[in-house]
Amino acid sequence: MKVLIIGSGGREHALARSFAQSGNISELYVAPGNAGIALQFPCVELFCTEQIIAFCQNRQIDLVFIGPEKPISEGLSDALRAASLNVVAPSMAAARLETSKGFAKELMLCHRIPTAKYYKLSKDDELNQACQELGFPLVLKADGLAAGKGVIIASNPEEASSAYLALANNGQGVIAEEYLTGWEVSLFAITDGVSFQTTVFAQDHKQLCDHDTGPNTGGMGAYAPVPEAEPYRREIETRIVAPVLQAMRDIGCPYQGILYIGLMITKDGPKVVEFNCRWGDPEAQVVLPLLETELSEICSAIVNCEVDKLKLRFKTTTALAVVLASAGYPFEYQQGTPIHIANQVMDKVLFSGVAASEKGLVTAGGRVLCLTCLGSTLAEAREIAYQNLKLVHFEGHKYRKDIGLRTNLI
Ligand code: AMP
Ligand code: GLY
Repeated sequence: MKVLIIGSGGREHALARSFAQSGNISELYVAPGNAGIALQFPCVELFCTEQIIAFCQNRQIDLVFIGPEKPISEGLSDALRAASLNVVAPSMAAARLETSKGFAKELMLCHRIPTAKYYKLSKDDELNQACQELGFPLVLKADGLAAGKGVIIASNPEEASSAYLALANNGQGVIAEEYLTGWEVSLFAITDGVSFQTTVFAQDHKQLCDHDTGPNTGGMGAYAPVPEAEPYRREIETRIVAPVLQAMRDIGCPYQGILYIGLMITKDGPKVVEFNCRWGDPEAQVVLPLLETELSEICSAIVNCEVDKLKLRFKTTTALAVVLASAGYPFEYQQGTPIHIANQVMDKVLFSGVAASEKGLVTAGGRVLCLTCLGSTLAEAREIAYQNLKLVHFEGHKYRKDIGLRTNLI
């Protein structure tokens, strides 16, 4: 099988590693990838959809895996399918589950899928009504893609008003949501639009600092599996995953690909915080290394609509990933700082924001890399990851020291 992965982050590096372990991969490319991924896999610059299609036709690519939401939201999966290519990613219309929070919330409301109560705000006076109905803290969200940074939690009417203005000023619609209390966990559904199977649970650590403090980020670390979430799996599959896939079929947008379900486990059971149309980053960096089933087999089942026949298996070990970010992230951050990595940990490093220079790899993004380690228990995976982290360094690097400490589980 010849595979092209679209994307340039740690998730795509994890996808490439996972594909490379499949027995039947003859060629594997990442477009555009990054200078760190390029140390291990061929990276190609393809600047537009036409170039991607031409590349796939010339190289006889059997499968395109689109990692990030942005190209999906711009219609890449549709264009590739129209060119008769096999694609793992939902259509642009199905991806509205992520790209339009308004669409996702309305669909959940119509199908009684458990989620936070919400208001779609189009005027200031609706905000007052939302404040009264939903109380405080109040969650305000941009209606479109915001790279994990479009959520503001307001604790009083003044904060709500300025949050509304800040989000509305970005030109997007705004959603006000009831604040959910509980603990968060992510689950992934592998689906051909009709059948689905779910992965191990993963836990992201979205806030910048230890003990879940500081600003929200794209994710500072993760681990999988999360045994505490297992008692909820059946309920999540029957009350959330099955109805959302059915609803998408009913409106003529079958969802084919990987569906990310961000959940809050509340005292009333699991509720949806968000859907994403792709693997999570950094969740992919801990879920994919646990796969026992080959990723190529999973992808074939998705594109051939045979997910019901897929034998999805995971290792019984635990994977833990710690993200190293640039000083200043998630705000303005430094770039061009040399990165030092000891050879013996290179196979555990997945690269995101890096570039090549005469001095070797340098930082070129907020989240620079992540280190993923496996252990027979969570404590062991943690121990190994933080030991190995001592062998990775760049000036000003920032990381959380409490990944996997489970202080955030109630
Ligand atoms: P989202 O972009 O919707 O995933 O939101 C980002 C983060 O904001 C989530 O991972 C939660 O930590 C937090 N969040 C979002 N919605 C809610 C909610 N309704 N109640 C509490 N926290 C939320
Ligand atoms: N880790 C959160 C996300 O990928 O959206």
